Amino acid sequence: MALRLGDTVPNFTQASSQGEINFYEWAGDSWVVLFSHPKDYTPVCTTELGVVARLKPEFDKRNVKVIALSVDDVESHLGWIKDIEETQNVSLDYPILADADRKVANLYDMIHPNSLSDLTVRTVFIIDPNKKLRLTLTYPASTGRNFDELLRVIDSLQLTDKYSVATPANWKDGEDCVILPSIQDPKELEEKFPKGYKVIKPYLRLTPQPNK
Ligand code: BEZ
Repeated sequence: MALRLGDTVPNFTQASSQGEINFYEWAGDSWVVLFSHPKDYTPVCTTELGVVARLKPEFDKRNVKVIALSVDDVESHLGWIKDIEETQNVSLDYPILADADRKVANLYDMIHPNSLSDLTVRTVFIIDPNKKLRLTLTYPASTGRNFDELLRVIDSLQLTDKYSVATPANWKDGEDCVILPSIQDPKELEEKFPKGYKVIKPYLRLTPQPNK
């Protein structure tokens, strides 16, 4: 069955470009972005892996580890990584799972045969330190993903966990946030939102971004 938000993601052990990985051990107490792409030595994938390599410091800042996956073997990954580094002008220092036996792809439902026969489509899983699935998205092979958007979602999820706020449509870092509807007690509101808040409707209350 497909994984749903809030599910505990399954553990696995699989080969990667950085040696064998036991997923839970590798993830430790970090957040994780696990993302699949269809195949090594393909153009859109090459740009995606380059962009993620360039954004790695941004993921690090947020305590997020990134790990890619495709259904090719380690040798293929190692050759392709050289190409990515050369053409995208980056150093690629995160692992690519070598899922040639499709163990992880099947476990995480990354193969959508009516779209792309037996290759992985472009799925993303954002997993929190408790190994709970917090976001999933699926893109077609022909569309490269927007990894800035993933950073935006991670910022939003981390704000929710730490400060009891949600983020409105098209929210950007630094803009007002929405107070979670579950917070109603006036004393709790005062304690949690010392910068104050604006009541537009009883269910729509805006507060300045708490960590700014
Ligand atoms: C690509 O990464 O460019 C790609 C891979 C599979 C199908 C279409 C495009």
